[in-house]
Amino acid sequence: MESIGINLDSLSGFVPKDSLSSRYKDANLANVALHKKTGKGNDFLGWVDLPSSLTDNVLQEIEDAAKVIKNKAEILVVIGIGGSYLGAKAALEALSHSFTCLQNKRKHPLVLFAGHNISEDYLTELREILADKSFALCVISKSGTTTEPAIAFRILKQDIEDKYGREEAATRIIAVTDASKGALRQLADKERYKTFVISDDIGGRYSVLTPVGLLPLAIAGIDIRKFIAGAREMETQTASNVPIENNTAAKYAIIRNLLYEQGKKIEILVNYNPKLQYLAEWWKQLYGESEGKEHKGIFPASVNFTTDLHSMGQYIQDGQRNLFETVITVNEANSKLYIPEDASNLDKLNYIAGKRIDEVNKKAELGTMLAHLDGGVPNLKITIPKLDEYYIGQLFYFFEKACGISGYILDVNPFDQPGVEDYKVNMFALLGKPGFEKQTAAIRERTANGK
Ligand code: PA5
Repeated sequence: MESIGINLDSLSGFVPKDSLSSRYKDANLANVALHKKTGKGNDFLGWVDLPSSLTDNVLQEIEDAAKVIKNKAEILVVIGIGGSYLGAKAALEALSHSFTCLQNKRKHPLVLFAGHNISEDYLTELREILADKSFALCVISKSGTTTEPAIAFRILKQDIEDKYGREEAATRIIAVTDASKGALRQLADKERYKTFVISDDIGGRYSVLTPVGLLPLAIAGIDIRKFIAGAREMETQTASNVPIENNTAAKYAIIRNLLYEQGKKIEILVNYNPKLQYLAEWWKQLYGESEGKEHKGIFPASVNFTTDLHSMGQYIQDGQRNLFETVITVNEANSKLYIPEDASNLDKLNYIAGKRIDEVNKKAELGTMLAHLDGGVPNLKITIPKLDEYYIGQLFYFFEKACGISGYILDVNPFDQPGVEDYKVNMFALLGKPGFEKQTAAIRERTANGK
């Protein structure tokens, strides 16, 4: 079986030749600390050996629950935000037909999302769609108290109960939450929903390989066993007993820190396949929330090429030189489509007639990489043999492991997110939430003075 790989060939002009190996020791210490649970945030390391510790029973239970929903619903609405949303969304986009919502003969429920915004229009329009469809809900919240999904669930729970009655509705709702804490756990126990547990030692952004990601994927008909097999393979390849120079995740972690130390403060994750757009969104959360603290950390950004070459391409080529690109290359497209010959050749495309679209895409990729290197933008490349469950499973674990190592090299705790609380306190104060009276008074005074 092939594996995802990393290509650092084009970095020679940007990082000194032996600098990678000079950091192997640090990366190894970081990797060992992850496995031995001796580093910062060590109570959130349940994800490290998660793939190999997932039992057949757990996977079977997820598949059984998926079967129940498949037999009942045309649409599954997954309610969650942040780490309780992005992993499933990213994997689904990567592994589903690009136009799955328009496919007539779908064998599995269509998965839609809610609770990842507070948009009145979004929720209203979703309810319009659900009104004449059979549907089910999967509500995901580790804390069980997050405002965005709680609002969406309150509304959609009423809808599903109105439509099917409370008893039947309860069989169409699955909750993924803490084993004992939080409002969602209380409600799920009271209403006797089917539940899955997010374990205490796995943070939201590292939870895609738990039921948080696996349940929506299984309901959508994705082969979760293949997905986990890929993650297991990457767990093995990046284990602490593997020589660090053979550990691709460690190499990626080292290189991005070397570039950061040279003033490359922005990393752009580049894809040439729109199916990977949300993989980049998941990656941004993983790295942004893990490393952006103590006034440190690379700012993670993303572009979708060649689409964004017609928008952001100008900045990347010629703007401030504080960026580098990490290009995800999919070696083999899943389909084959050739450019036809055209007798009139008015569009002057006959010079590429007979070529596969993917070949043209690859030339665009190489041409762009060379141009950006000439423009002073370091490029590294992560290669995936093809887009399927196995390699996407590998890729998720690869990025998680690299993020843990990278965060330790940067000397931050990659497993907390203290900064995300600040907006919540202000929002609760502005909304007058009980318990926030002091903050409400302070923020009212502040906003009254126009600050
Ligand atoms: O990574 C994280 O921890 C966050 O993004 C959370 O996943 C997000 O805030 C949602 O939290 P919860 O699952 O508790 O509703």
